[in-house]
Amino acid sequence: MNDDGASAGSAPFRVLFICGSLRKESFNRKLIRAATKLAPAHFQISESISIGEIPHLNDDVARTAVPEPVVRLNNQIRAVDAVVIATPEYNYSIPGVLKNTLDWIPCPVPHENPLRFKPVALMGASIGNFGTTRCQMHLRQTLLFHEAYVMPKPEIYLFRALEKFDADGALTDQATIDLIKAYWPALQQYAGMVTAMRASGVA
Ligand code: FNR
Repeated sequence: MNDDGASAGSAPFRVLFICGSLRKESFNRKLIRAATKLAPAHFQISESISIGEIPHLNDDVARTAVPEPVVRLNNQIRAVDAVVIATPEYNYSIPGVLKNTLDWIPCPVPHENPLRFKPVALMGASIGNFGTTRCQMHLRQTLLFHEAYVMPKPEIYLFRALEKFDADGALTDQATIDLIKAYWPALQQYAGMVTAMRASGVA
């Protein structure tokens, strides 16, 4: 074992981040950058297309042709072992642009939804005191429709984000750093459990 908990020569573990914020100086994107840097060496982490490219869902269109950015996002989801959504909370819930994206993903053929049976994990940063807890609860509800397997714990709620990054956007909060270091192996273990369950026909 090496110091990040992986056996020498571990197969790559592929993770796709979806960022729920379109903001240039987004704390959630800074969190994604920090989490990427803290990942074990065998993790292959990428960020999805900007969800700002995805048009508003119109079910007339969704039943016939899926927009090209949705096809690209769905292919990105198919290509990884796990998806991590890092998002702000808007008005105690899921930002509209992210909900719109999640509404598109099962279209037009719900049983080909790339999130179906996919290990998914959540994290979020907010400037308030609750660190996106309410948004993450609503995401769990939405992802239940998708039949995604959402990792129960560890949870990452980065609260008071204004105090937790330096001027260069680097994460300085040791408690969050330690949490992220525990989060990655937990996600890989959880994804392995989902794969084993699926292979044995349990789920
Ligand atoms: C917010 N913000 C916010 N914060 C929170 O903790 N709970 C909330 O319900 C809301 N609601 C909300 C609505 C709208 C429309 C905006 C623009 C903002 C504040 C939010 O935490 C802050 O803007 C973060 O900086 C957003 O994350 P990014 O964009 O920095 O990643």
